[in-house]
Amino acid sequence: MKKLSISFLFFVCAAFSLEKIDSFADYQKEWKASIENPALFWQREASMLSWMEPYATVWQKPTGEEDQFVGRWFVGGKLNVTYNCVDRWADAYPNALALIWISEEDLPDQKKERFFTYKELSNQVNRCANGLRSLGVRKGDRVCLWLPMIPELMISQLACAKIGAVHSVVFSGFSPKSVQERMKDCECKVVITVDEALRRGKKSEMKESLDPYLEDCPFLEHVIVVERTKASLPMKEKRDLLWDAILSHQSTHAIPEKMDAEDPLFILYTSGTTGNPKGIVHSTAGYLLYVMSTMKHTWHPQGLIEKYKNRDVWFCTADIGWITGHSYVTYAPLALGLVVVMYEGAPTYPHEGKLWERIDRYNVTLFYTAPTLIRSLMVKGERSVNQYSLSSLKVLGSVGEPINPEAWEWYYTHVGKKRCPIVDTYWQTETGGYLISPMAGITPLKPGSCSFPCLGIEPKIVSGKKGALCIAKPWPGMMRTIYRDHKRFCSTYLKAFPGMYYTGDEAMQDEEGFYTIIGRLDDVIKVSGHRLGSAEIEKAITSHPAVAEAAVVGIPHETKGQSIFAFVVMKEGAKVEKEEIQQHVRKEYGGFSVPDGVLFVDELPKTRSGKILRRLLQSLLLENKVEEISTLANPSSVEKIKEALAKN
Ligand code: WT7
Repeated sequence: MKKLSISFLFFVCAAFSLEKIDSFADYQKEWKASIENPALFWQREASMLSWMEPYATVWQKPTGEEDQFVGRWFVGGKLNVTYNCVDRWADAYPNALALIWISEEDLPDQKKERFFTYKELSNQVNRCANGLRSLGVRKGDRVCLWLPMIPELMISQLACAKIGAVHSVVFSGFSPKSVQERMKDCECKVVITVDEALRRGKKSEMKESLDPYLEDCPFLEHVIVVERTKASLPMKEKRDLLWDAILSHQSTHAIPEKMDAEDPLFILYTSGTTGNPKGIVHSTAGYLLYVMSTMKHTWHPQGLIEKYKNRDVWFCTADIGWITGHSYVTYAPLALGLVVVMYEGAPTYPHEGKLWERIDRYNVTLFYTAPTLIRSLMVKGERSVNQYSLSSLKVLGSVGEPINPEAWEWYYTHVGKKRCPIVDTYWQTETGGYLISPMAGITPLKPGSCSFPCLGIEPKIVSGKKGALCIAKPWPGMMRTIYRDHKRFCSTYLKAFPGMYYTGDEAMQDEEGFYTIIGRLDDVIKVSGHRLGSAEIEKAITSHPAVAEAAVVGIPHETKGQSIFAFVVMKEGAKVEKEEIQQHVRKEYGGFSVPDGVLFVDELPKTRSGKILRRLLQSLLLENKVEEISTLANPSSVEKIKEALAKN
């Protein structure tokens, strides 16, 4: 009997140890094995998580009629995400540094930088968790977080996860109206915001600007306000509460909610092809495991999870308001027990060298940013970057849009000093974590290519070596549904290529097997790495009383990747200027979605069924020609637009 239990123990241990990947040949072997036997691969990876109750099955087949793909992961397993990200480290290594936060400006009574050990982070998270519980927030309730990059944003996310509430973070650059739209869609009970946000030395009103929109949020019970600048604010009695007032008398202990592996962790709205944003829903166990696994294999970070004392300092410049910030500022780096650097405001304020100065000051070892930022610094020359040693850096990363080879070379030469591999990570809000990415120091690199699939990911290009990019097998970190719209989820991602997940991107694969992402096949535009939908911007423009119709396209831009160009048809007799349209979009949607170009035209080219042909407008704009106009209901519109463009 005794013998039996020993051999059983051995079996479990053996199954859990994944071979160390030291070479590209190892990667190829492990990748093949992960595709042939995904359950075994994910079972091994899942030993990184601390479970409250073990799971029975790694993956269970889908039962839905329309959804023959997703299935259920880690069936029966129970866990808490915040326990995995914070509490387990706070218990074992209370003095280990978790977060370095850098403020944009010194404000009276506030520090320029704040340091949180895992224990301090845990205390704050627990206070916030108890505060939310005291307001009646329970497992499954939705909480909207409309906050700039201050520690309270990360703390609120983790507090929600601790009590099983589902957070919906809305990027602070979105307009209050967009926040309202998102809050109404997922029926938020509480919103956490700030008095004012700071960016480039300027203060912008947040709470007060949101107030008028809150009247029309029937499910909203409370507004919690973090005092960032201590601006005096109107507070609605009973509804509005100050963060400090709620948290100050709360205990620093909070019992973690026992969550099912498949319970939703968060909703994050992203743009698609219609005027309504999609509430992407991510799961608890599958999501957390996937972001940890992809970060581990891509960057090889040294963290508390490996009992490393000499830990990596992780600096990802993304805002938590987007998926990169969720996955790789908050969840993955904390779950692996790294030191996370987070900053408020603009990355190059008050001077161009600010990022490099921070890398030297905090001895950042792993640096992750977007091509748009690299390009904007590249055009200014290397004088500023060359003033810093950057000798702590080990690995560089790129995310959010294709990185052009020139920007890649500049990043590699001037930032990495030709010592640091660059991981060009390809993924999406929907995928939770990386799909295709090099493994630092292991995968051969080609500038502009995101290289090879992550372990457990099977890409398929339909058909051949260039075309629509799909993923042939489910993976634990993929989105589970669109909030309250499972039909839209199935039709957007699963219907186009049955049996596979469709990314909406076009990709190609070269003779050596390297993947390169060409760009979106739908009407999603990437401006400075931010994902915007043509239809959403058009909706904002047409809500102006003088506008009859609008069509929005993306055009290549030297630093931003793409910029927005709008074709606008005015109502008869109406008169409106370009600036007014831009101002209106800023108010309706958000400052980052303002079109650079606005052209007023008499009519838009349409098909006989009334569909506006954005692609045609794009070729008119870029090449001043179109191939085929016979399918148009109004072919004469084309000549008129050409004339208007010529005059512009
Ligand atoms: C879209 C997803 C990636 C997380 C942040 C953005 C484009 C993303 C790359 C890359 C080429 C990329 C794709 C994708 N994209 N990373 N490394 N190379 N293109 O997430 O806002 O959901 O946008 O960004 O077009 O579909 P997102």
